Amino acid sequence: MKPVPTLEWRDDHLVLLDQRLLPSEEAYISCRSTTVLAEAIRTLAVRGAPAIGIAAAYGAVIAAMETPESSGFVKECSSRLDLLASTRPTAVNLFYCLDIQRKILHASNSKSDAVDRLLVSARSLFMEDLEASRTMGRLGADLLPENCTVLTHCNAGGLATAGLGTALSVIYEAHSRGILSGVFADETRPLLQGARLTSWELQKAGIPVKVLPDSAAASLLLTGAVDAVITGADRIAMNGDSANKIGTYPLALAAFEAGVPFYIVAPVSTFDPEAADGGSIEIEERGREELAVFGDRKTIPDGVGVYNPAFDVTPVRLITSIICEKGVISAPNTIE
Ligand code: MRU
Repeated sequence: MKPVPTLEWRDDHLVLLDQRLLPSEEAYISCRSTTVLAEAIRTLAVRGAPAIGIAAAYGAVIAAMETPESSGFVKECSSRLDLLASTRPTAVNLFYCLDIQRKILHASNSKSDAVDRLLVSARSLFMEDLEASRTMGRLGADLLPENCTVLTHCNAGGLATAGLGTALSVIYEAHSRGILSGVFADETRPLLQGARLTSWELQKAGIPVKVLPDSAAASLLLTGAVDAVITGADRIAMNGDSANKIGTYPLALAAFEAGVPFYIVAPVSTFDPEAADGGSIEIEERGREELAVFGDRKTIPDGVGVYNPAFDVTPVRLITSIICEKGVISAPNTIE
């Protein structure tokens, strides 16, 4: 079961569900150029670490298709991949997928060879992600008690991946096993991925979900109403420090304080072999307009600045387990 058609390759172009418009409107964007796709990634029409990576992998096919056959083909096509790579700095899956595609581009011997091989590779990245999400769902659900209530942050569901998601794959699996009582979804200020996307997706799947303001999570955890906090990640450093949507770190602190297990669910492609710890993860900062306007109303006086990081890093000592498709890393802070 795939609850939402997040991204799909059709003949010669990529179709994306425009997540900026959810839940009011289900509309689709056709990407036939890397410029259009880069804008879609930058503005979060497609978002979530694995989905960004796979969209960019298909973007490499588009790049090869739109680059004229010439002696400078590889160089010109590479510069289109650079454009895709410049869209969002934190989700490592973007760079993971583009690096794979770049190697294929360099090994190809003509434009049509490049297009064919890049498409095969993008399809296989899509399928790997789908498979990974199924496995993570099973492994994660094994950790949950009967009749459990879980809390999640941002959207780490079908909308964020090729499959059923990372954190939400665990929730879907727990639901299908009959052990899930309900889900709390943090609203996720300022772009409201929890309120707009997670609740939309879970409602579609018939899973009971309540949205809460991010600021209500800590006190909710103290009441004992939540059995586990489950989130995804955008980049995991080699020591286990994990970057995810802004607000994840305070949530992990609150879970620690309340004695509630805090699980990160992410595929192997989210681990960054070049990041020794969280300090080397680049955190995306986004624009003032995301904070200064709510609907059509101004919320911050003109001239007042903002601090708007899109992600934070949760130190490994606050993480109970990291669940990936290769297995569960329990107490990751104890691993040498
Ligand atoms: O800014 P976004 O919406 O792309 O941020 C997404 C998240 O932070 C997700 O939790 C993360 O990518 C994991 S999704 C499987």
